[in-house]
Amino acid sequence: MSAVVSEELRVVPLNVPIGAEIQGVDLSRDIDRGVMRQIEAAYDRHSVLVFRDQRLTPEQQIRFSGFFGPLEIHVLKAYLLQGHPEILVVSNIRDDEGRFIGLPDAGQTWHTDTSYRQKPSRGSVLYALEIPHAPDGRPLGDTLFAGTAPAYDDLSPEMKAMLAGKKAVHSYGRRKRVPGSQRAKLTREQLDQTPDVAHPVVRTHPNTGRKALYVFSGECTGIEGMPEARALELIAELTEHCIRPEYIYRHVWRRGDVVMWDNAATLHLATPDYELPQRRLLHRTTIEGGVPR
Ligand code: OGA
Ligand code: MN
Repeated sequence: MSAVVSEELRVVPLNVPIGAEIQGVDLSRDIDRGVMRQIEAAYDRHSVLVFRDQRLTPEQQIRFSGFFGPLEIHVLKAYLLQGHPEILVVSNIRDDEGRFIGLPDAGQTWHTDTSYRQKPSRGSVLYALEIPHAPDGRPLGDTLFAGTAPAYDDLSPEMKAMLAGKKAVHSYGRRKRVPGSQRAKLTREQLDQTPDVAHPVVRTHPNTGRKALYVFSGECTGIEGMPEARALELIAELTEHCIRPEYIYRHVWRRGDVVMWDNAATLHLATPDYELPQRRLLHRTTIEGGVPR
């Protein structure tokens, strides 16, 4: 299925309820605003966009991403690209001193980015420079995306009624850490800068008005006004529901891919099934978002 929305731009929905491949556009170019608006409409509608065979300088990635909103500068300063703080390096590669050149363990549990903030990121743009492969040539390090709007749609009317108006507590300080994580524990100061926040369990997309689940095990530690045990049970149940196979788009990476996702309508998960000398290197830009409603 292919919908022609301009002479060269093609939006090809992937065979799952979320995701579309955008063909016929070279992101290194200064793209016409009308075409950019069509890309943004596809982003809002499909939640994950895939562009293949791109070649981007940091400046070009920053310019493309900047169309969707101001870009964030990540708190992990050690992993920002020299001279381009808008770019967060995501990588398992180590430098001569043995230090990781990028964030080695991004996203190894299901999550949406920075939901523990008042204003979580709208989304991110990941550009693949190096992708690890198995000895048989199969790409490794896939990223999985779950569509939380179709997952919401499929809830029972009783469940929808029960969740209406509820707020979940998102906690950076108390969230579950990835087992064996090599990341430093948060300092007192970092914890003070990231107090717990409550967001609607069901959020309404700011551009499309579509409802989506916005709650998941790990970072959500409770639901306001609900006993903790019951809340954790419900959070776990809703998370399991969101990550059912029918809501998942699994991205198998190729060098030159650009993938962008919408944190208001997806969860995502990295697959840590590779290790050096299998190298993974991506450049990430992150778009500011608003308060979830
Ligand atoms: C991220 C993230 C997943 C991946 O950058 O926010 O979760 O597969 N990345 O690198
Ligand atoms: Mn992430």
